[in-house]
Amino acid sequence: MSKRLQIKSILNDDYVGKNIIVYGWVKTFRSNRFINLNDGSCLNDLQCVVDYEKLEESKLSKINTGACIKVEGEIVKSKGRGQSIELITNSIDILGESNPEKFPIQPKKHSFEFLRENAHLRVRTKTLSSVFRIRSEVSYAIHNFFNKNNFYYIHTPIITGSDAEGAGEMFRVTTLDSNKKNLDFSEDFFGKETNLTVSGQLEAEALALGLGNVYTFGPTFRAENSNTSRHLAEFWMIEPEMAFYDLNDNMNLAEEFIQNVIKHTYEKCKDDIVFLSDRLEKEEMSKPKDQRSELSLIERIEFVINNKFKRVTYSEAFQILRNSKPNKKGKFKYPVKDWGIDFQSEHERFLVEKYFKCPVIVYDYPAKIKAFYMRLNDDKKTVRAMDILFPGIGEIVGGSQREERLDILNERVEALGIEKEELWWYLDLRKYGTVKHSGFGLGLERLILFITGMNNIRDVIPFPRTPKNAEF
Ligand code: 4AD
Ligand code: MG
Repeated sequence: MSKRLQIKSILNDDYVGKNIIVYGWVKTFRSNRFINLNDGSCLNDLQCVVDYEKLEESKLSKINTGACIKVEGEIVKSKGRGQSIELITNSIDILGESNPEKFPIQPKKHSFEFLRENAHLRVRTKTLSSVFRIRSEVSYAIHNFFNKNNFYYIHTPIITGSDAEGAGEMFRVTTLDSNKKNLDFSEDFFGKETNLTVSGQLEAEALALGLGNVYTFGPTFRAENSNTSRHLAEFWMIEPEMAFYDLNDNMNLAEEFIQNVIKHTYEKCKDDIVFLSDRLEKEEMSKPKDQRSELSLIERIEFVINNKFKRVTYSEAFQILRNSKPNKKGKFKYPVKDWGIDFQSEHERFLVEKYFKCPVIVYDYPAKIKAFYMRLNDDKKTVRAMDILFPGIGEIVGGSQREERLDILNERVEALGIEKEELWWYLDLRKYGTVKHSGFGLGLERLILFITGMNNIRDVIPFPRTPKNAEF
């Protein structure tokens, strides 16, 4: 492999006095003399000093923001402020021009809305390139954690016939002519109705009951019409599944896993995270004082790495919410009155941000509001479910101990009116060597929201899919 010298290496290692070649995109070109060059390898640019008197006019006029160039020259200690080294340019090749009148990403502040409309170019900004570098490192950290802990990485199908969450929010997959009425799915490609997966959990359970500890890491699709800053129609989910684990083991693993991944990423992406923390601090300053967050991004990250998550049952959380000031004063959009309600985002955020002021694991939820596969408690009212709630975000993990008893699972499936034929193989798992097992799903983008301090989930995935938007 021919290795291109990256700006990251040039800035971090000792290249002073050496002649090098570097490739990148022009960020700015000041006074016909100073090029800020970036190649995506790190946050910082390399300053390239041009002797414009020696450079042909035809080249000089093409050193514009957004252009791609190749520069050759010598690295020297910088005399100017703001950088310790710079490159004294010997020669420049213009590899790809960029019309300065038309290139959308000008060296100024752009709104995130504007950048989303230019998602094919927004990686050229400091903020988005930082986010995508962090996303890459988080993904690596996740694989690394499971690999070190002897989990097998498994691949579950993207096209499936089952609705794992039983929520019916699925994208149909078909090759039938959709103009026809009364589609006959026995004539369809797979000979049955299929959809894009909402979760790989059911298949992961099958593999865990044979391999022991497994995890998935792949795209997940939900046709829920939630146009919020926390929902995507296509997101990435990590779903570990462990044989012989009860809910407690599951919660312990989830907590250790999240802390470990955040810590790894924080150490590896310090520059990017410090940059994003400063960015956020500036943004916060424009808000009224009482709406600013008390902690900076870095303080929040350090807090989460160093403190245990708080664990409460649904019933305890319910009591806290019912007796809370905002509930009594009618400040919640959804009042907390009767046991059994599903917590809304405003409730989750109250628990995490105002009451406990740390990540919270809520467990033992009412059976009625949770999926069919969760293990029923002896009270027959609650199930061994758990959600992990994070400051600024709400739910980032949903998981449970699974119902391993065939008779009880059958009862639940019937009570919910789920088609048993579709689940025959899942029920089989309870007939042949069933055993207690557990797992959870972590939304990758929600975790990245936390680590980057970004506000909108559309800004932590390169090309977001949301209602009425599948551009790029
Ligand atoms: O809570 P959920 O729906 O759980 C499951 O899918 C289980 N099968 C997981 C398991 O036990 N193996 O989703 C899990 C997580 C959520 O906590 C959230 O972080 C994320 O997936 N998530 C979404 N992220 C972005 N956009 C959406 N529309 C999401 N829906 C869920
Ligand atoms: Mg959930």
